Amino acid sequence: MNLAIRRGFLWPSFEIYGGQSGFYDLGPLGVLLKNNIVELWREVFVKQHQEFVVEIETPIINPAIVFKASGHEEHFTDYAVECTSCHRIFRADHLIEEVLGTNAEGLSEEELNKIIKEHNVRCPVCGGELSTVKKFLLLFQTYIGPYSLENLAYLRPETAQGMFINFKRVYELMKRRLPLGIAQIGKVVRNEISPRQGPIRLREFTIMEIEFFYDEKNPQCELLDERCSDNKIYILTAEQRIQGETKPISILPSEAYKEKIILSPWLAYWMCIAGKFVNMLGIPLEKTYFEEKLPTERAHYSKQTFDQMVLVDKWGKLEVSGHAYRYSYDLERHIVFSKSDLYAVRQLKEPLIVRKRVAKYDKVAILKLFGKQAGDVFKKLAKYSPEELLKILESSQRDEIEIEGMKIPRTVFTVEDVEEKIWVEKFIPHVAEPSFGAERLMYITLEYAYRELEGGRVVLSLPKKLAPIKVGIATLIDKPQFEALASRIYNMLKMKYYVVILEGDSIGKKYAYADEVGIPFVITIDYDSVVEGSTVTVRDRDTRKQIRVPIADLAKVIDLGLEGKDITEFGYPVIEPKD
Ligand code: GLY
Repeated sequence: MNLAIRRGFLWPSFEIYGGQSGFYDLGPLGVLLKNNIVELWREVFVKQHQEFVVEIETPIINPAIVFKASGHEEHFTDYAVECTSCHRIFRADHLIEEVLGTNAEGLSEEELNKIIKEHNVRCPVCGGELSTVKKFLLLFQTYIGPYSLENLAYLRPETAQGMFINFKRVYELMKRRLPLGIAQIGKVVRNEISPRQGPIRLREFTIMEIEFFYDEKNPQCELLDERCSDNKIYILTAEQRIQGETKPISILPSEAYKEKIILSPWLAYWMCIAGKFVNMLGIPLEKTYFEEKLPTERAHYSKQTFDQMVLVDKWGKLEVSGHAYRYSYDLERHIVFSKSDLYAVRQLKEPLIVRKRVAKYDKVAILKLFGKQAGDVFKKLAKYSPEELLKILESSQRDEIEIEGMKIPRTVFTVEDVEEKIWVEKFIPHVAEPSFGAERLMYITLEYAYRELEGGRVVLSLPKKLAPIKVGIATLIDKPQFEALASRIYNMLKMKYYVVILEGDSIGKKYAYADEVGIPFVITIDYDSVVEGSTVTVRDRDTRKQIRVPIADLAKVIDLGLEGKDITEFGYPVIEPKD
């Protein structure tokens, strides 16, 4: 964190006004790193699945009805407890966890009060007595426009509802094909009670999530075998947690689905991809596992949830993504609250035979009876289905039926029993949701990249593709001829990469800075470069080996190096590190 703040990756927000917990600013390097992580997520989750995953963008501010329907207004709450002496407010479950070291997530009001009383939990700051716990809504609230009270609105705590309320539109755009993933990347806010974990519990952060809609009777998840057949994942099941076990099992995602450890095949698939993705951030597979939430810990919309945990120094473990089986919960609720048709249609292999009673009318009889007016009668009748006509007939005992002001004799109608073959049926798709927090991913990426070498030298070994600045340019000595060549190379490369001309008293200091901010390649301009004017050296951050390269080949060498290829194997003269 020291390095991250000092070098401008991030820092606490609103510092000049004394700060505000739960908010962090990203500095120049932080923005670049986060963008690269977001872009990698987009590549892995959206671009590589573009046949059936598309991305949308929806508003942060939503009319309150959206979060009434989603259940958040009722359930998206935590319990707060207040110190009766200093009046500080704490999140009750976190306080218990901090003081007693036991997991209190998801406990009820009574359970929390009981624990606080029985264990005499007191204010961790002043030792004062605590109040009873109170429910606290985590949604930020606002009003839309000038008619404040009528237009209550909430700021979204997840992007997911944007995908649910737009499901039908995107489903139509995607030619009514399932499975269908709708992705969104955007800011969300949660009014956390007392966030005290620096940049990892934020009140405003970037979420990257997919609502993945599929037909649960025909889930078509061949990818689970095709792409995940050699990718075991580690899972700590709810059952293991209840038994007090802490060692996750290692299992293929497809096996986990077959053995009903994971209830949805698509949840298993996206967990497999999540494992690969986190690995691409530089986290070894054995440092991450999926922890199944207990029923009491799960969000209200979920039938099963796995949190992807990464082992970290400061907190032991950190949740970086959540994988929830939201089944048909959200669409069902929006169908009820909006009265909209948010159904998908399923083609049936065998038709459904539906028998029903309907009313039909005799067109010839109507022509004879109404003459020139018959056209009008047909128009009016055409507005009603045979079932609706039957209802109208049955609702009246008169000899003449009145339809839109026109009296029609009952005798022109006949009531018949008919059979109808139905080849499609409406259904509500099930949803598997992978959901990632971008800032937490940034945190683990930084932590795992951080290395202290002998002598206290720091190297930020970020995966090269993610490094904020890709190229540093160093002059061996700061003389005009050297600087002119540095400028020429800088201008040549800056349209393609983020590049920096390194400053410092010595070449060693320039390399040290480059290593500290994770620059993968440093181009050095030495005496030979200046004398013959066409070659420079390129230094690899991790091996510290250098190659001597013609200036014209620099972009090619850097591109290959960023793909992860070893630059010493490109056939250029290699210079071994001196220190
Ligand atoms: N959409 C996932 C979450 O709210 O955590």
